[in-house]
Amino acid sequence: MQELASKLPLNVQKGDLTFFGFAARQGLESFSDELRKNYPVDVHHLSIDLTKRKSPQKVFEYAQQHQLTINILVNNAGLGFNGKLEELKADLIDTMILLNVRASTLLTFLFIPGMKKLKKAYILNISSFAAFSPLPYKSVYAATKTYLLFFTQALNRELKETGISVTSVHPNGISSERAMENIKKSSFIARSAALTPAQVAKISLDNMFSENVFVIPGVVNKIYYYIGCSLPHGVILKLIGNIFKKS
Ligand SMILES: NC(=O)c1ccc[n+]([C@@H]2O[C@H](COP(=O)([O-])OP(=O)(O)OC[C@H]3O[C@@H](n4cnc5c(N)ncnc54)[C@H](OP(=O)(O)O)[C@@H]3O)[C@@H](O)[C@H]2O)c1
Repeated sequence: MQELASKLPLNVQKGDLTFFGFAARQGLESFSDELRKNYPVDVHHLSIDLTKRKSPQKVFEYAQQHQLTINILVNNAGLGFNGKLEELKADLIDTMILLNVRASTLLTFLFIPGMKKLKKAYILNISSFAAFSPLPYKSVYAATKTYLLFFTQALNRELKETGISVTSVHPNGISSERAMENIKKSSFIARSAALTPAQVAKISLDNMFSENVFVIPGVVNKIYYYIGCSLPHGVILKLIGNIFKKS
């Protein structure tokens, strides 16, 4: 979230732009203060667990109560847990589906009517490279990210006659604090494809403002994508299954 906020074009006057961030962590205050200090923006934050049933509605109500105009909605919150399905804990499966799928869908649903009233508005869904193929040992995570890919493309078409464009982003490894340990332990392919959060944020926002519906950050990842498209489905499943079984 920090990286996305810092890459927004901030050549605006104070009062022109409001940043509204919501995440699970307590202590968003210091991040909000940092933003206020460094950029000419009004900042709101809300610490909320988006896996809770009423959370998307609460985020929406907060925005309404504070009369916030949402020009850009970024569905970034997402988590992934690896392992054989039968060995995963049920609450981790729930978390992935509730956060990656349910929260993103409902937030989008709730904010669209207000965004439709604007001349131009953007929805940015942070999916993953995992969206492009079924992933043994990451089956639920990959499926949630494929959901975001299809959801984005269908919605972008539905909203064609409005000022809203919808973009999905498909990074293949972001060296965020949480993901760094996993990336270090992963295969050469995964390590060579990883980008920093700042790189992914910049590429995502550039493509979002260009109204591209689909973004694969990084040249290496684009090459992997085209190789993947040219291989038979069964071969990819076997290859990926072997890679994730070891990791
Ligand atoms: N890292 C990768 O290798 C990678 C690769 C492809 C795609 N992605 C996707 O990129 C996005 C960002 O992930 P990241 O790796 O950069 O990890 P991250 O920095 O840990 O981002 C995860 C975000 O989700 C928020 N979040 C987690 N659980 C939440 C909950 N229950 N309620 C509300 N917010 C919650 C986190 O908030 P707090 O910080 O407050 O917990 C954080 O802002 C995710 O959608 C992820 O699936 C990541």
